[in-house]
Amino acid sequence: SAAEKGGFEFFMDKEIAEQGDAVRSTLMGHFDGSGIVLDEQRLSEDDLRTIDKVFVVACGTAYHSGLIAKYAIEHWCRIPVEVEVASEFRYRDPVLDRQTLVVAVSQSGETADTLEAVRHARRQGARVLAVCNTNGAQIPRESDAVLYTHAGPEIGVASTKAFLAQLAANYLVGLALAQARGTKYRDEIAREYEALTAMVEAVEQTLTLMDPVRKLAQEIAQSKAVLFLGRHVGFPVALEGALKLKELAYMHAEGFAAGELKHGPIALIEDGLPVVIVTPSPKSDPLIHSKLLSNIREIQARGARTIVISEEGDDTVAPFADFLVELPRVPKLFQPLVATIPLQVLAAEIARARGYDIDKPRNLAKSVTVE
Ligand code: G6P
Repeated sequence: SAAEKGGFEFFMDKEIAEQGDAVRSTLMGHFDGSGIVLDEQRLSEDDLRTIDKVFVVACGTAYHSGLIAKYAIEHWCRIPVEVEVASEFRYRDPVLDRQTLVVAVSQSGETADTLEAVRHARRQGARVLAVCNTNGAQIPRESDAVLYTHAGPEIGVASTKAFLAQLAANYLVGLALAQARGTKYRDEIAREYEALTAMVEAVEQTLTLMDPVRKLAQEIAQSKAVLFLGRHVGFPVALEGALKLKELAYMHAEGFAAGELKHGPIALIEDGLPVVIVTPSPKSDPLIHSKLLSNIREIQARGARTIVISEEGDDTVAPFADFLVELPRVPKLFQPLVATIPLQVLAAEIARARGYDIDKPRNLAKSVTVE
């Protein structure tokens, strides 16, 4: 009903608007002064300390949250992290033992592919930590440790607020591991947690900046395809932007690592093709920024319509942006929490302009309980 949607046309609109709360509630209470605390912990400190390899397994949007987690966990914990779609994981005989931590990320906690990956991992002796939005669901029940995301119920089939909550939870997992392994001092963990908490405001602020993106969506709604480019944590954000557009607007959309442009995707560039580029901060990441800047120039010179997601005050990109989205300045690893928002809004508005039901895209299910 209209009341349930809180005045919004679709649940998805409401869920996009709730993302600040989703991040806030997910972070809340997980730092107790001495360190990061999980919700359910059936692993000893020793178990956690001896972890020497992490796999993140998940499907769809949750998988993209895992791709982002890899950057944070490897940076903070100095252990290798592999991220894999759950449906591939157990069929290729992955190398697992008691020192392996498998992080299973799932909004519903009932996705069959992810559940089977969890079962496979446990049979091989690996430890499993679930990141889940649904209390008492099957995946957390079968895991050794649980961190719940508190996005609240998500009705829209295409995941939005659960994704931002997953990002927040995954960062907490990274900090918890760094703490157990001693790769970060307590006060460094406290500082990261504080910086993470400050992201709630950055998310809220980003949400207020979306009107121009809605206008842009009207203009490009009839395009045949849209490409998304990013580097470092901006790469998974590009993948998520493309997935949202496929799911909601039934448009051909691809996300690429910007560095791969010259190895293939550049051949796709033609006059008027919208290309969304997720650009890092010129201050915190000058090297990657300069590389992206040359990518933007290259594709604009070939006729692409460049839609640039950038940090406020970055005037180096402005001359090459046909459309500029300026987002608040945030720490490098946390940029996906803000950079994903314009891509969600873009996909939702394009789908709306095309007359589709953005809560219930064709052929898709909210929770896929068969393999
Ligand atoms: C389905 C949904 C996606 C979701 C994926 C994983 O494909 O349509 O939005 O990302 O399942 O779901 P989960 O509940 O495991 O996060």
